[in-house]
Amino acid sequence: MPRLENIAQLATCRAEGAQGDIHAIADAALVWEGETIRWVGPRPALPAEYAGSERFDAGGGLVIPGLVDCHTHLAFGGWRADEFEQRILGRSYQEIAAAGGGIARTMRLTREASEPELVERASGFLREMLSLGVTTVECKSGYGLDREHELRLLRVYRTLAGIQTVRIVPTFLGAHVVPPEFRDDRAGYLSLLIDDLIPCIARERLAAFCDVFVERSAFTVDEARRLLRAAQAAGLGAKLHADQLSQGGGAELAAEVGAVSADHLECASEAGISAMARADVVAVSLPLASLYLGQPPVPARRWIEAGVAVAVATDFNPGSAPSYHLPFALTLACTLQRMTPAEALKGATIIAAQALGLAGRIGSLEPGKAADFVLLDAPDVTHWIYHFRPNACRSVVVGGALVRSV
Ligand code: NIG
Ligand code: FE
Repeated sequence: MPRLENIAQLATCRAEGAQGDIHAIADAALVWEGETIRWVGPRPALPAEYAGSERFDAGGGLVIPGLVDCHTHLAFGGWRADEFEQRILGRSYQEIAAAGGGIARTMRLTREASEPELVERASGFLREMLSLGVTTVECKSGYGLDREHELRLLRVYRTLAGIQTVRIVPTFLGAHVVPPEFRDDRAGYLSLLIDDLIPCIARERLAAFCDVFVERSAFTVDEARRLLRAAQAAGLGAKLHADQLSQGGGAELAAEVGAVSADHLECASEAGISAMARADVVAVSLPLASLYLGQPPVPARRWIEAGVAVAVATDFNPGSAPSYHLPFALTLACTLQRMTPAEALKGATIIAAQALGLAGRIGSLEPGKAADFVLLDAPDVTHWIYHFRPNACRSVVVGGALVRSV
């Protein structure tokens, strides 16, 4: 039974208490057995039964739960660097999309890629995410946008779950935009999603969640309600891309249907946020997307004070957030969204796990939970997020196995 000692600070990130309460322990020890944590606490209180176990030295570093990136669009073909430059020169994200760029362009590039190419590329991203301390990643489809290619993206995620270390949580985002071939037949596309793909995906357990992009250029609240109700009836959880580019009732809908999370929310109404607080819907903030699209950051400080649990994720995708650097997103959540470092960390661990329905298994360091943890070269959480570096991660353990060490 291995144990880790000489930990300057260990942030357990247990769920109870306020978002800023990460239940940190100074001079801590951590004991695990196989895939599971057995004991965590102050080193002087280590029970005698564990004293003879194999000892690892944390070198006076910081230990946190494995980070959980609860919103990514991981598998896609191509990039869109030219659109990044066009936006800098004044074209809007919506204008670029209306001219055939944006999501539809990535759809074309994704359809052109082979399944092994998509697997290979996404596993490269996952390797780098793991090296940053990210041990669980939610992965959305949404660049296939027809039967064959949406199912293929979900199969890519199934393959990735089997061949590499990062835990994968797949989400069906067939309702990302209406694809060009259905431009004059929205009803036909909705029927493909509701009557064919959702039942098929649920039957084959290809996704845990169904997500809908509620936006003028994508789907209406009424369409999203139908889609999410159908998904829930089939056994999938509900998520939403809500109020990203305009205020459209997405936050209110998330509360109404009992979604696990509503994500983005740059333009959400106060009433929508209050409804989410009452319904226990996690608000997933995506500071990289706000930054890249030049939008005002979300007022996370106010939301937390109003009782909303705020997660932080990357939104990694080739358009609005072409980076999977979750620690960078945490620093941005502090500087731009006015979250404290502790609140940001809880937002990328136990609260992110809650946004994936996995808070019983991952996201905190306590007996009985998965032994997913990260050793960082920092004295404490505040210092780690304040002194932003390319990578402060020294070791990563997933399910009790050491997968990275420098
Ligand atoms: O989360 N908002 C919709 N979807 C993505 C952007 C996808 C893209 O631009 O390719 C997002 O920001
Ligand atoms: Fe997204």
